[in-house]
Amino acid sequence: MDNRREKFNNQTQSNMENPEKDSVPLLSLSGINKSYRNNGAKIEVLTDLSVDIFSGDTIAIVGESGIGKSTFLHILGTLDQPDSGTLLYKETDVFEFDKKNLADFRNKTMGFVFQFHYLLSEFSALENVLMPGLIKGLKSKEIRQSAEAILVRVGLKERIKHRVRDLSGGEQQRVALARALVLNPAILLADEPTGNLDKKNSKQVHDLLFELNDEYNMTIITVTHNMQLAEYMNRQMTLVEGKLVEIE
Ligand SMILES: Nc1ncnc2c1ncn2[C@@H]1O[C@H](COP(=O)(O)OP(=O)(O)OP(=O)(O)O)[C@@H](O)[C@H]1O
Ligand SMILES: [Mg+2]
Repeated sequence: MDNRREKFNNQTQSNMENPEKDSVPLLSLSGINKSYRNNGAKIEVLTDLSVDIFSGDTIAIVGESGIGKSTFLHILGTLDQPDSGTLLYKETDVFEFDKKNLADFRNKTMGFVFQFHYLLSEFSALENVLMPGLIKGLKSKEIRQSAEAILVRVGLKERIKHRVRDLSGGEQQRVALARALVLNPAILLADEPTGNLDKKNSKQVHDLLFELNDEYNMTIITVTHNMQLAEYMNRQMTLVEGKLVEIE
């Protein structure tokens, strides 16, 4: 933990010494409102939410059930549109993209680990992890090696050919993580990535995320109830009255 904290402190310091670095946020949300209608009642979930996220940030979103963590993550990942507000990616307004360009942008830039992981249960772990590359138009032989390598890194070396529905809940969760990571996304959005994992496997997943952050500056935004993981991140946030606030 100390090393990580030290690294973050050093980074902060070097950013101060070099104000040009990171002056443009990687992602900038502003004035985001999102409400749902249910049986005639309006539920306001996000109200005038704004946040800047910088390349290489590791952010934990914590807070009780129902406060809007998944709603926030889905909007940040462009999977859902807000009622109003903007999302800039390096100063480009991504909600101005048409559907195809938005999907291309998302597939190129982001990896997702969903709260309910949406794996293809009749397919093998490997086939699931090949899927993002196939969707991108790559051939399976081009991506097979990296798919296998990331499955090994999440601890599933012995389960590569298993059908997903025969895997345990925690193993399925790690397949979902491998699927999110296989194309080396600039941004990883994860909704409770260690929710089904025991201590040892949670630690392995945390270590992997930080290795990728170190290796290629992957930006990580994760919803978590795991306070240990939250502490290792360089920013911790929660939602208060529909707004994202930093926990000091
Ligand atoms: N499609 C929907 N229609 C109506 N209400 C919704 C919809 N999606 C979410 N909500 C409501 O919006 C609120 C925020 O939901 P959200 O899933 O973002 O919460 P959360 O913080 O992720 O909770 P959890 O920790 O339980 O996953 C909840 O009260 C939920 O019931
Ligand atoms: Mg949720």
